Amino acid sequence: MTSYLGESLLTTQEWSIDKLHAVRTVARRLAALDRQGIKTPLCPNELAWAVFFDQSTRTKSAWGGAAARLGMQPVIVDGSSTQVSHGETAIETGAMLGMNAHAMGIRHDLILGEGNTFIRDIKTGIDDYLAATDDSRKVPIVNLQCDVDHPTQTMADLLWLEDNFDDLADRNITVSWAYSPSYAKPLSVPQGLVTLLTRFGANVTLAHPPGYQLTDATMAAAESNTAGGGSFRVVDSMDEAFADADVVYPKSWGAYDLMVDRVDANASGDKDELAAIEGRALERNAQFTDWICDERRMATTREGDALYMHCLPADIGAEVSAGVMEQHKVNVAREANWKMYVVMALLAGAKVPELDAVLTSLEEGNQ
Ligand code: CP
Repeated sequence: MTSYLGESLLTTQEWSIDKLHAVRTVARRLAALDRQGIKTPLCPNELAWAVFFDQSTRTKSAWGGAAARLGMQPVIVDGSSTQVSHGETAIETGAMLGMNAHAMGIRHDLILGEGNTFIRDIKTGIDDYLAATDDSRKVPIVNLQCDVDHPTQTMADLLWLEDNFDDLADRNITVSWAYSPSYAKPLSVPQGLVTLLTRFGANVTLAHPPGYQLTDATMAAAESNTAGGGSFRVVDSMDEAFADADVVYPKSWGAYDLMVDRVDANASGDKDELAAIEGRALERNAQFTDWICDERRMATTREGDALYMHCLPADIGAEVSAGVMEQHKVNVAREANWKMYVVMALLAGAKVPELDAVLTSLEEGNQ
């Protein structure tokens, strides 16, 4: 099993396929142990500190559940309650956290160009402090969603896809924009999906109305990832994207130009302008209310029976019809449940030497 001891997951694109395979294997082994009621306190008396600069239900509880199952103490903090909101830099903050925590999770997803950079600066702060004090500890970071990627989500999605399909090669997977009246959602889920799934040989279709493009870096990565097989195409019709799809993943995200406008307004702390941009984003979304995953569109998928996926929460009646969600509500919950085992796998793999042997021992009944 390829080791990722001491490593931080900031984007899946930076990890080799072998390392991603290892995460999936460890996640499956930990899930099997957990579902048998076998305890896995592999990192006792360690602090798993997570900071969220945006709301979360699933990822916060996945972090807490993963850390508790590993014998760690999870602490989850609202980012606005830290001194970052008073201007303490990410590098300074990282140094302080690196002294005290044994692993860190970070969500910072709302502003393009900021979240992933923030996470990298935190890592620099931690690593520089540990090096300067001759401290050999590693404090791995898990990206719990940034502006670029949502790797624990997409790895959970990958595990759920593999529960449903032996092989993703040549499966038609559609990642589609869908209408939302609630808020301008980050780009990181669709970006993470098209960059990850194109590495596993799938035929990935990205669908969105004009103006809802993803970043250039994402598009370039998704294109280049198909060199080993599969394909990547972009269409501007939800109907075209659904036709013959094996999997559909319809969700909303913000219009690109307005996400860019948000960068300057946020940098200058202009709350009125941020609110105005959000209003414009919802007006823009409202031009595309027919982008909904409903029974008619599901009937056009492969044998009318595509796997419906969503990272949740979904806007029911906007992104997806109530009937489609009702039919798939257990499936999307099972999809979400994988995230906790992905976080466990990332923490255990980063913290526990000889993890393969340790897991084998637990599997053989040795506590
Ligand atoms: N899908 C997801 O990340 O959910 P939360 O925002 O609730 O964490």
